[in-house]
Amino acid sequence: MTGHEVTLEWPDGRRDTVTVEPRETVLEAALRDGVRLPYDCRKGTCTACVGRLRSVDEDDSDAEPSEESGSIDAAAAFDYRRQPEALTEHERADGYVLLCIAMAQADCRVAVGPMVRAELGDSPWG
Ligand code: FES
Repeated sequence: MTGHEVTLEWPDGRRDTVTVEPRETVLEAALRDGVRLPYDCRKGTCTACVGRLRSVDEDDSDAEPSEESGSIDAAAAFDYRRQPEALTEHERADGYVLLCIAMAQADCRVAVGPMVRAELGDSPWG
């Protein structure tokens, strides 16, 4: 098995591509590469690390990206190391991903930064 390339897209247009090894989380790969992703609990309970899936490499996954609708099945791109308690099923279906516990299953692009976290304003976890 080889790793998957996850491109983190920041609000200022910057992009960081990290190679996420099997069994590794996106946050672990980012920290290893010196990419300063925000995080707090590292347990899937706070949303500090949240990102939103933008697209999945079609050659690398069975997922069907539909960027126009903004609705991409994050389950096709990521496995979780543990239950992502801070996200509702609806948020997961909308492409939100907790990067501290998410293990990449496909090459993909993920929006990150405070705007993404702010979109989760109606989360029951605040
Ligand atoms: S750091 Fe808390 S959910 Fe990821």
